[in-house]
Amino acid sequence: MKKISFIAIGIAFLMACGSATQEPSVKEEPAKKSTKNVAKVREISELAGIMLTMHDQFKEIRGYVERGEAIPDSLQWSFEAMKTAQPTKDMSLDAGFEGMATAFLVQLDTTVANPSIATYNDALNSCISCHQNYCPGPIARIKKLKLKEGK
Ligand code: HEC
Repeated sequence: MKKISFIAIGIAFLMACGSATQEPSVKEEPAKKSTKNVAKVREISELAGIMLTMHDQFKEIRGYVERGEAIPDSLQWSFEAMKTAQPTKDMSLDAGFEGMATAFLVQLDTTVANPSIATYNDALNSCISCHQNYCPGPIARIKKLKLKEGK
């Protein structure tokens, strides 16, 4: 029984959380823009959209932290919405999800208030902790955002 439910979860995660979708390749052939291609475009959930935004914005934060600069106000977004955003269909997020989201948001605030390689990497570790539970696919991609300590 246990094995069966594990497989079922694996399939549910395959869409957004499987490693196959790690680097969405933009292979668009402008000449052949038929409606057939539209069907292949992956539907991005509200939650996945927030995640992709966070991923991009963390890349920017990384630059500021690396250069030892303050994170500008323009980059201090609120990601509270992740707690209530609609995830990919069939994905079940249990009560633990909100707790992990809160833990992450606290780390994000700490990084913004006190930017350093350590606080920044702690925030990324919070991304990874949640992903270990709910969405393992993008972990390798998130790890690439880390900064080397002791610089
Ligand atoms: C509280 C849990 C949680 C935290 C914290 C979290 N994630 Fe996610 N992440 C998820 C879940 C769940 C999904 C799948 C969303 C869906 O498919 O609807 C996801 C999806 C993603 C995706 C894939 C989006 C796609 O569909 O292509 C990326 C990339 C990602 N997260 C990066 C990050 C980064 C970077 C951080 C930290 C800055 C982070 N996540 C923090 C739970 C979390």
